[in-house]
Amino acid sequence: MKMKNTKLLGSHIENFDAALGGGVPEGHIVLVYGGAGTMKSSICFNILFNETLGGKKGVYISIEQNSLSLLKQMVSIGIEIPKVNIEVLNGANDVLKGIKKMKDSEPNKLTIVDFGTIRKELGMPTKTTSKAHFAFSDDIVNTILTIARTLAEKKLCDIVVIDSLTALYSLTELKNPRSEIFYLFEYLREIGLTAFIISEEVEFDAPHSGLGIENYLVDGIIHLHHSERNRKVIREISVVKMRAMACNNDIYSLEFDGKKFRSLYGGKVPLV
Ligand SMILES: Nc1ncnc2c1ncn2[C@@H]1O[C@H](COP(=O)(O)OP(=O)(O)OP(=O)(O)O)[C@@H](O)[C@H]1O
Ligand SMILES: [Mg+2]
Repeated sequence: MKMKNTKLLGSHIENFDAALGGGVPEGHIVLVYGGAGTMKSSICFNILFNETLGGKKGVYISIEQNSLSLLKQMVSIGIEIPKVNIEVLNGANDVLKGIKKMKDSEPNKLTIVDFGTIRKELGMPTKTTSKAHFAFSDDIVNTILTIARTLAEKKLCDIVVIDSLTALYSLTELKNPRSEIFYLFEYLREIGLTAFIISEEVEFDAPHSGLGIENYLVDGIIHLHHSERNRKVIREISVVKMRAMACNNDIYSLEFDGKKFRSLYGGKVPLV
């Protein structure tokens, strides 16, 4: 059943919207999980980039990978960064100041919040390191909530990517993870952002992410996987769940032709 009156975002992967039952409903919180190098960041950035090109406002919160490394990867997969109005916020003070300065009128705006660089600064305090830097690492979940609230109140963002939940866990001592993550997700839902939350798959057949609770709290799950067969490895993608959508859960192979992503039906491509 397709939800009436709910707009759908495209996956920007050819053929894959059909698997999603049409697309990702706006306002959904979607977990994108997979092993190392399965193109989690690329898939999410590609969605954000294309939706930003189409007029939406996007924010990419990178907790581990710095923006330079992230952007290099995106250029290597052919994303034409100069087509959007990109801004990188990579200083502890810059983040909140920069977000407060953002104007609703800026078209095709894609903001990268670069915690990777902020964390590097934290590890190497300098004379200019302010107290604000330390507040960031102490309570990064609250900082992300503040960013999300500011973005939502000022209507500065439609889609947010958090890369990654695994990195977030490694930074914080969550006293009650289920409750804190529940509030983070509920908060994002309440303020109406569509969110793609990246999570690393620790090992083959492991639960969907570090703590295994997010899968029940999120609205949708997309799984990326490297599948090995006769010493060849192919990329795979599937929809594990997508609330309110008639999605199909088949496994597609994920192709990248140097310009665009495409999913191929029929499961694993026979290699022999
Ligand atoms: N032009 C390209 N064509 C195909 N694959 C590419 C290209 N450029 C980079 N890659 C592959 O993309 C992968 C990295 O993509 P990405 O960073 O999105 O993955 P990830 O799942 O987010 O990785 P990580 O686990 O490090 O966060 C690398 O394995 C790299 O080989
Ligand atoms: Mg990544």
